[in-house]
Amino acid sequence: MVHVAEVLVNERARALPELLRLVALERGRVGTLLNVQEPAFYERMLGDGGATFIAVEDGRLLGFACLAGRESVHPFWSPHLDRLGVDRSRTGVLIHAIVDPAAHGRGVGRALLVARMAAARGRGLDLLVSTVDPDNAACLGLLEGAGFRRLETRRVYSANVLRVLLARDLAGAPRSAD
Ligand SMILES: CC(C)(COP(=O)(O)OP(=O)(O)OC[C@H]1O[C@@H](n2cnc3c(N)ncnc32)[C@H](O)[C@@H]1OP(=O)(O)O)[C@@H](O)C(=O)NCCC(=O)NCCS
Repeated sequence: MVHVAEVLVNERARALPELLRLVALERGRVGTLLNVQEPAFYERMLGDGGATFIAVEDGRLLGFACLAGRESVHPFWSPHLDRLGVDRSRTGVLIHAIVDPAAHGRGVGRALLVARMAAARGRGLDLLVSTVDPDNAACLGLLEGAGFRRLETRRVYSANVLRVLLARDLAGAPRSAD
């Protein structure tokens, strides 16, 4: 049974090495399309930079994914937020989801997405946004399958990388991951 939960304050120190084990796996995975970050980034996502959700089975970490708030809403989202009539303070950002390659295709990615949607809704957010590499069929399939809509494909971030910009309003999203 896969159990999904948010990493609590007193669990952060124990969770970090396990997260970094999956990060290293993804960094070494042939064909990865994820812009894997430095350990400090995941430490920040465990701290005040956002919230981290983990999927665990028999005590083993199968995957994790992060959720951030207004401080991570990049200026390139502004025209879309204005058009959708959503305030930046009510917008959350899906950041990184990494599932152990040995556990792909078992619903772990979806469970981590549902947990983040519920948590975002619980935090009073109205909209979730995400940027995805246009070649990342798995991630695009996951998000579009959960009701996210493509808004634009453009170059973003200091690395000027091509990304699909997707969003989903949280009205109707599950209030809890149960
Ligand atoms: C993207 C990722 C998180 C999906 O996790 P997963 O646990 O394998 O996905 P799930 O089993 O929950 O699949 C949920 C849905 O996603 C879509 N999906 C998953 N893998 C897919 C693939 N290889 N191709 C197309 N769609 C895919 C499908 O719609 C699937 O629904 P279905 O099983 O009913 O067809 C996983 O492939 C991963 O860790 N990739 C490497 C890191 C990465 O690129 N992360 C990007 C952030 S989303």
